[in-house]
Amino acid sequence: MREQLQGLKEQALTDLQGQESLQALGDWKVKYLGKKGELTAILRGMGSLSAEERPVIGQLVNEVRDELEAAHDEKEAAFKRAERNKRLAEEAVDVTLPGRAVPVGSEHPLNQLIRDVEDIFIGLGFSVAEGPEVEFDYFNFEAMNVPKNHPARDMQDTFYVTEEILMRTQTSPMQARVMGEKAAEARAKGQQYPDPIRIISPGRVYRRDDDDATHSHAFMQIEGLVVDRNIRMSDLKGTLLTFAREIFGDGVQVRLRPSYFPFTEPSTEVDATCHNCGGSGCRTCKGTGWIEILGAGMVHPSVLEMAGYDPTVFSGFAFGMGVERTAMRRYAIEDIRGFYQNDVRLMQNFKSRM
Ligand code: PHE
Repeated sequence: MREQLQGLKEQALTDLQGQESLQALGDWKVKYLGKKGELTAILRGMGSLSAEERPVIGQLVNEVRDELEAAHDEKEAAFKRAERNKRLAEEAVDVTLPGRAVPVGSEHPLNQLIRDVEDIFIGLGFSVAEGPEVEFDYFNFEAMNVPKNHPARDMQDTFYVTEEILMRTQTSPMQARVMGEKAAEARAKGQQYPDPIRIISPGRVYRRDDDDATHSHAFMQIEGLVVDRNIRMSDLKGTLLTFAREIFGDGVQVRLRPSYFPFTEPSTEVDATCHNCGGSGCRTCKGTGWIEILGAGMVHPSVLEMAGYDPTVFSGFAFGMGVERTAMRRYAIEDIRGFYQNDVRLMQNFKSRM
């Protein structure tokens, strides 16, 4: 039996050397050390041994098994190491290669301007309210004091979706919407009067215009609305002066010129001193020293009343500015179409402000 064991050991070890894969190594282990393997077979024959021999042979069997297992494990470990090294070599990344540059975009100048204007007004206690671009005729016109046959409709002809629904021609319908909501809230809560309002509302508006360097059928406005007790024209002027100085610079002056809007009374165009010459007169301001920045006025009593604010208790002011016009002035862009063509060469110029 000793010889048998010795022979098995030698054969197994020689055989082991010929195994060239983990798979083959596994088969080898089953063949020699498995439950139905050759060592087990020899072990079975131990029943015929004498009582003295049995422990001796038993120990020998254990030694052979240990030796074979150790040889197997060593070879298996070597295989695994080799396999791992091969995989690492294959998956190696050359960290010294230059990276792929990801082009960095920039915020659109119109959005930058809107954000700056929002910041200014938030600093003055306003909040931002956005409204729908597809609007009811009621909010766009009727609630803004422009009934069905009012001639002012012709100035703002637009794209109708149905008789009663259109692409809004101005952000002013947000005045009626916000006042209407506040008035409804107050009624629901049983309040005698609705809450005061201080909002701005930026967004896109549409007009049936032929596109050229200074006109676009779709453009942006920022509406402002303040409603409270004792709101006066001086509040409007002070607010707009603060705004103009924040956005155009400290030395700026504003002036109000009489104008007409159906939803404000009195109505005014607001000019700021020319950013280019400071007011002495130049080409930019056509020699006048002033540049128009927005339309404004005191909220018309009928507009207050229609929206549920008692005009004998409340008064307010509103203004609406063109975002493109303001941005063109601020960034010295001469053609409004530049904002819409997505030409990266133009947009790249506003990167630094990200
Ligand atoms: N909605 C007006 C326009 O589009 C601007 C404006 C807004 C005027 C608010 C007065 C008050 O021209």
